Amino acid sequence: MSHSERVQQLEQQLATLQERLLQAERLTAVGELAGTTTHEFNNILMTIMNYAKMGLRRTDEATRTKALSRILEASERAAKITQTILGAVRNRSANFEPTNLSQLVRDTLVLLERELSKYRIAVELQLDDTAPVLANGNQIQQVLLNLLINARQAMPRGGHLRIAVRQPDAETVELVVRDTGTGISPDVLPKIFDPFFSTKSGPDGSGRGGTGLGLAACRNIVESHRGRIRVQSTVGQGTAFCIGLPVAPTPSGHLSGTPHSAPCSQNTHSPL
Ligand SMILES: Nc1ncnc2c1ncn2[C@@H]1O[C@H](COP(=O)(O)OP(=O)(O)O)[C@@H](O)[C@H]1O
Ligand SMILES: [Mg+2]
Repeated sequence: MSHSERVQQLEQQLATLQERLLQAERLTAVGELAGTTTHEFNNILMTIMNYAKMGLRRTDEATRTKALSRILEASERAAKITQTILGAVRNRSANFEPTNLSQLVRDTLVLLERELSKYRIAVELQLDDTAPVLANGNQIQQVLLNLLINARQAMPRGGHLRIAVRQPDAETVELVVRDTGTGISPDVLPKIFDPFFSTKSGPDGSGRGGTGLGLAACRNIVESHRGRIRVQSTVGQGTAFCIGLPVAPTPSGHLSGTPHSAPCSQNTHSPL
């Protein structure tokens, strides 16, 4: 086999492997959403069952009223989750549509509320009323889930999670996910977006992480949106991921929304 034939063969193999990698990344993202939902539904079912038992055991009206209102609250939460999932499924097309990033953050947090409080993580939101971004909401939700789960795993003893959506200029909307976790050391930082790079030994107690595909998928999705993903981290203090996405053009071709606040590009660096 000639040299150029060999090169051609290797290029072909590389293309096949890259395609497989993309498939694997998509599957982890879907699995992540399915896992989160199942987990949440289980929590809700437990609540409903426990309060139903309490209502049956105790006959006084006050206790029964309390049990019934807790059951109602839990069921309403379940309904909210179903709506979110249905919304995501409707969005499952490869379509890029004007998407409200702040709303997407709120919808995604519905899925993780319980898990975050279980790990004693306080959530702080700063969700500005920005222009819509041109995005596939379902994919961006997967990015968010990956970042939030990584942040949660970096704070095994609890901490603060800050999520911000803001518009630094007329063309961009930024999403920042900041944790007060372990941080990432400078020698590891350049590798975190590599497929299969993981410092985790395997899935954790909640069955998450350890594949090393989360951030690779995030980068892939963000780049397919013509966006940017950046990271800034200090060992012992925490990590911030910043994603910039392009604002959706209005029908007249003009960019909508008013610019305010400074972009997160200062002091951050792309590991690529
Ligand atoms: N918020 C974070 N804080 C600390 N380390 C992080 C954070 N997010 C990602 N990492 C590091 O980047 C690695 C790759 O992340 P990811 O691609 O999601 O794979 P996985 O979560 O399966 O390990 C993680 O194993 C971890 O070392
Ligand atoms: Mg991960």
